[in-house]
Amino acid sequence: MATMYTETVTTVRHWTDRLFSFTATRNPGFRFISGQFTMIGLPINGRPLLRAYSVCSAHHEDHLEFFSIKVPNGPLTQHLQKIQVGDELLVGAKPTGTLIQQNLKPGKTLYLLSTGTGLAPFVSIAKDPETYDLYDHIVLAHGCREIAELGYGEEVVNTLYNDEFFGELAREKLLYYPTVTREPFRHNGRLTALFEAGRLEADLGLPALNKETDRVMLCGSPAMLSDLQTMLEARGFTEGSHHERGEYVIEKAFVEK
Ligand code: A2P
Repeated sequence: MATMYTETVTTVRHWTDRLFSFTATRNPGFRFISGQFTMIGLPINGRPLLRAYSVCSAHHEDHLEFFSIKVPNGPLTQHLQKIQVGDELLVGAKPTGTLIQQNLKPGKTLYLLSTGTGLAPFVSIAKDPETYDLYDHIVLAHGCREIAELGYGEEVVNTLYNDEFFGELAREKLLYYPTVTREPFRHNGRLTALFEAGRLEADLGLPALNKETDRVMLCGSPAMLSDLQTMLEARGFTEGSHHERGEYVIEKAFVEK
């Protein structure tokens, strides 16, 4: 069995000077569960240079999609940010990760809490019809510094809301909550502060976050994860894993370089 597939880049979109997304062909043998990540990269000086990336596309889609930061001197992203349609993309054949439904107990509301490129795994989960079978509401919260950084997430959500087949269900169950910390916007502040004030749930017309009915997935920077994990543990939420289901699961938004 292949350990790595060589795919072809099919689209590239630059959202800001720090963020871009791209799609690539998908080998039919590449299987993954919504929310998982895999190693991807480029051949640099004749050797594969790979980093962990969450897959944004849904498992039923015939292409792969990724959302990345650009770091000027980042070992991989200094090259990856220059990719063009037709370029080769290396994709590791063994996806893995903790942000999967089988690590969570059943619940009513699924909170997908992200900052920056931590949005990526939740795009896949929000596109997966199975998520809508399992929950009454799916909250997709995305915290960024600036409004422009919300662009990719806004487009994903608009596409889902306007989808011919899926739109009605998405409009009923998917609650999008973008928030910005460094300029005025309809929602302002860090996710941590918004939960402490009970603001996020109130804005969405939901009861205060509680472990009986709510399940949480976290993906973002180490500081964001640590603060939200502390908040969840203080409210009695336990971390789930493939050994034992819990009320929340957590994963670092990987590529910082
Ligand atoms: P802030 O602007 O107050 O730092 P970054 O681009 O640095 O990864 O940040 C993405 C978003 O995450 C920003 O809105 C940032 O807010 C926010 N953020 C940073 N640290 C935390 C934290 N500990 N908890 C929640 N949000 C955070």
